[in-house]
Amino acid sequence: MIPKYYEFLNSVKILSGDKALENIPYELKQFNASKPIILSDAMLQKIGTVDIVIKAIGDQLDTSTVFVDIPPDSSYKVVNAIREVYTQNNCDSIIAIGGGSVIDTAKGVRMLISQQAEDIKQLEGSEILKKGIKAPFVVVPTTSGTGSEATLVAVISNPDEGTKKEFVSYELLPDAAVLDVRMTETLPPKITASTGMDALCHALEAYTCLQKNPVSDAYAISAMRLIGEYLEKAVDKPKDKKARIAMANASLLAGIAFSNSMVGLVHAIGHAAGGVSHIPHGNAMAILLPHVMEFNMPKCEKLYGDVLLYLFGPEVYASAPAQERGRLCVEKIRQMLHRFNEKCGLPTRLRDDKVKEIDLLPIAEKAINDGAIVVNPVGATKEDVLEILKKAY
Ligand SMILES: NC(=O)c1ccc[n+]([C@@H]2O[C@H](COP(=O)([O-])OP(=O)(O)OC[C@H]3O[C@@H](n4cnc5c(N)ncnc54)[C@H](O)[C@@H]3O)[C@@H](O)[C@H]2O)c1
Ligand SMILES: [Fe+2]
Repeated sequence: MIPKYYEFLNSVKILSGDKALENIPYELKQFNASKPIILSDAMLQKIGTVDIVIKAIGDQLDTSTVFVDIPPDSSYKVVNAIREVYTQNNCDSIIAIGGGSVIDTAKGVRMLISQQAEDIKQLEGSEILKKGIKAPFVVVPTTSGTGSEATLVAVISNPDEGTKKEFVSYELLPDAAVLDVRMTETLPPKITASTGMDALCHALEAYTCLQKNPVSDAYAISAMRLIGEYLEKAVDKPKDKKARIAMANASLLAGIAFSNSMVGLVHAIGHAAGGVSHIPHGNAMAILLPHVMEFNMPKCEKLYGDVLLYLFGPEVYASAPAQERGRLCVEKIRQMLHRFNEKCGLPTRLRDDKVKEIDLLPIAEKAINDGAIVVNPVGATKEDVLEILKKAY
């Protein structure tokens, strides 16, 4: 069904595949930039990922400003500190090399520079950023999950409040996303599975939430097809180049989909669980997804039947009568999660990760104030969320 009104935008240039990294200088030179700040994390520096990018850039840009002190789940403090480094070193652009934590930190830094602000707290809110000159911004994702390289969202935590804040604005879209298998083939199986489930939740929630539209559907379906075919392959064989580039594309497609539709209850609860218990985002997504699908079943049976086809293929789809496909989809996802649990220890219950029983109520209280809950196909109260959390615990 086509909604009465919708908007769609993806302005990010996509560079995907062989030697994509080598094209970064060209992209930045298009903006007359020559001195990027390179942002990443300590792990990616240690394993040589940052060096691969610097080598690919060669002497075409000044790559002397490198900041890798970014912790998982970016925080206000780090964002504010990096702005200082950027200014002190007279940088003129940003290259982010990392997962969602690094990319969202970089988005925060770029917001401060463009809006000429000093504290990210001043920029909280949705679509409040003034249009203006933006620092040229190239993103090189090293996980295949958040899709942040192509989303208008940044999730940055405010440790003082114990919350993860969402910044939403078209001004947050990067200039270019660079997908190169050299960036993800080091990703361990457990993080591959966890981040891949994040991408799946983006696509699945974009496809089922109240703000879905035909264009976001096209991206979500394309993402789900790739995830169905390649996520387990990437978990099983980390160096499988075909699987890695497919997952990089899937994550980006899913990011574009949810940026132009929305997510839903899995993310509303997941954001809250991340803020309260610091469970990794992808793990929360994986654990919560089947429970939320069951909750949404009364409204989503038909759409989950479609998802069965996209994820598990025509044979599985045809093996079940139409009225059973939605439930079979949840069952198949559960089986996949159990395989991930056996293969690489991806948790299947909240208690097996960082969540304590005492956290459940505060998580439910935060989740019902998350923007994503509003577009979930079935309305959820605090009691409903608590019930889901107890089942997932
Ligand atoms: N902006 C968005 O649209 C969006 C969407 C979903 C989630 N998020 C946010 O993104 C963050 C999570 O990002 P993430 O899931 O990508 O994880 P992450 O960036 O926190 O990385 C997870 C871990 O994997 C390591 N790692 C990353 N790439 C690696 C590689 N190639 N090889 C080896 N190790 C590697 C990192 O060092 C880190 O320890 C959360 O804060 C979440 O809220 C943002
Ligand atoms: Fe997510």
